[in-house]
Amino acid sequence: MALHKVNPLTTQAWSNLQNHFNEGNTHNIKGLFESDADRAAKFRIQWKEFLVDYSKNRITLETMTLLLDLAKSCKLSDAIKSYFNGEAINETENRAVLHTALRSIDKKPVLLNGVDILPEIQQVKDQMDRFCQSIISGEARGYTGKTFTDVVNIGIGGSDLGPAMVVDALAYYKNHLNTHFISNVDGDHVQEVLKKLNPETTLFVIVSKTFTTQETLANATTAQNWFLKHGTAADIAKHFVAVSTNIEKVTAFGISSENIFPMWDWVGGRFSLWSAVGLTIALAVGFDKFEELLTGAGEMDKHFRDSDFHENIPVVLALLTVWYNNFYGAESEALIPYTQYLQKLAPYLQQGIMESNGKSVDRSGNPIDYQTGTIIWGEPGTNSQHAFFQLLHQGTKLIPTDFIGFVKSCHGLQDHHDKLMSNFFAQTEALLNGKTAETVQDEFDQAQMNPEKAAFLKPFKVFSGNRPTNTILIDQLTPHALGALIALYEHKIFVQGVIWNIFSYDQWGVELGKQLANSILDEFDGKSSKKHDGSTASLVSYYLDKR
Ligand code: F6P
Repeated sequence: MALHKVNPLTTQAWSNLQNHFNEGNTHNIKGLFESDADRAAKFRIQWKEFLVDYSKNRITLETMTLLLDLAKSCKLSDAIKSYFNGEAINETENRAVLHTALRSIDKKPVLLNGVDILPEIQQVKDQMDRFCQSIISGEARGYTGKTFTDVVNIGIGGSDLGPAMVVDALAYYKNHLNTHFISNVDGDHVQEVLKKLNPETTLFVIVSKTFTTQETLANATTAQNWFLKHGTAADIAKHFVAVSTNIEKVTAFGISSENIFPMWDWVGGRFSLWSAVGLTIALAVGFDKFEELLTGAGEMDKHFRDSDFHENIPVVLALLTVWYNNFYGAESEALIPYTQYLQKLAPYLQQGIMESNGKSVDRSGNPIDYQTGTIIWGEPGTNSQHAFFQLLHQGTKLIPTDFIGFVKSCHGLQDHHDKLMSNFFAQTEALLNGKTAETVQDEFDQAQMNPEKAAFLKPFKVFSGNRPTNTILIDQLTPHALGALIALYEHKIFVQGVIWNIFSYDQWGVELGKQLANSILDEFDGKSSKKHDGSTASLVSYYLDKR
């Protein structure tokens, strides 16, 4: 079944939410806490190693009921069934969206056009497992007989961001292999990585779903040419493997078929780290840990598919985003992990969220007259506290923020961890409560500040508070927890797309720039001349004169 095409604005639930918003009973979070001693218990979900506290939001129980009505009106249950059942919900590309099959834990057949796809998924997993074992154990060797020391992932977008984020996130669990990522077509990027490497001990993993991506092919060619200055064409088989759906193009590139790890068109690029696209992850932490990552995601899938909406973490978090985005007019959301290991989570989710839901045409092909995809940004705490938190606390913009923290650290430096977590809790409390003029005055009085100076300083020291946050507190950063966390955000994206009546799994918006870049490149080589706007024409000619 295709996804229903419901304009959310035409639903009764939407009007009810608008009236509810206009009544203004949700606007003051601090007041809501003061009037309900049990509020924290009412707005929290505990699931496995996750505790999600969403009580510090501009919501009441009525808000949640109305938001859940909206989900029902937009036929979210049907959409979830279509998603997990492998219907072609990516309609503009006529594809199923089945990254969930890659981490299925109940092992029930997953049918695509009547054929169970689990056996072929298992085959590729077995291939990955054997390959990782041979590289990690030192059984597989480079062209001079040395064991591998370095793995270089060459890919871009979903073929880079997921593996790079997870390898960083799981650095604590890493083995002896050094991992590197080359993504940008900027030649300085590839050169900076290559200059550190020994061709005798380096394995290149070329990742491209389509194997037509300009950046990846350029970087793979440069890496291959660099390698061929040392090894021979016959040695390439030992040092280059590829992950792709496009077996023909990979073999034409010079990588033999036994060195290809297949993937499928029903895995979207930005949801592909669970497939062989995650090969660099499995090499870095071992295949068993990669499996734990998949299991965590698979358990979150089950939670999302089977739980009632009111206790369903991805559904609740998605609805809160809709509330702020469409009723409070918030344009962006921040994501602050309190662990340095998750420093790449926000950039990773930028692709997931903004490539998926950055759409302005609805599922019937009509322009949309309401807000869709949010802007997502963030950096780990506590660093970000010393960078952009001023704007979160006292700026003019409303920025709902997810705080992600862990009860236990990986290395166990308790003193550090207590300091980190005290900041974690303090920030959401400060964002909620702010600081009143009376408190500021009390502080001035205690410090016996001169009244003139106190009167001048007071307005600058007041914090309005009332800034919404979600707290996601997880036992520990394990592969299992990370898998579940990523899957949580994947499903949040899906729910929002369903409600906003858009297609979340295509990305036509990135194509135009690619086409124009190719035609400008042809101009550089004198192969064509194109008419440009005045600005672009003069910039191109300035570049050509000076390069
Ligand atoms: O830039 C868009 C995009 O198609 C992403 O969706 C994808 O993750 C990336 O390019 C890389 O594509 P490929 O894996 O085919 O090289």
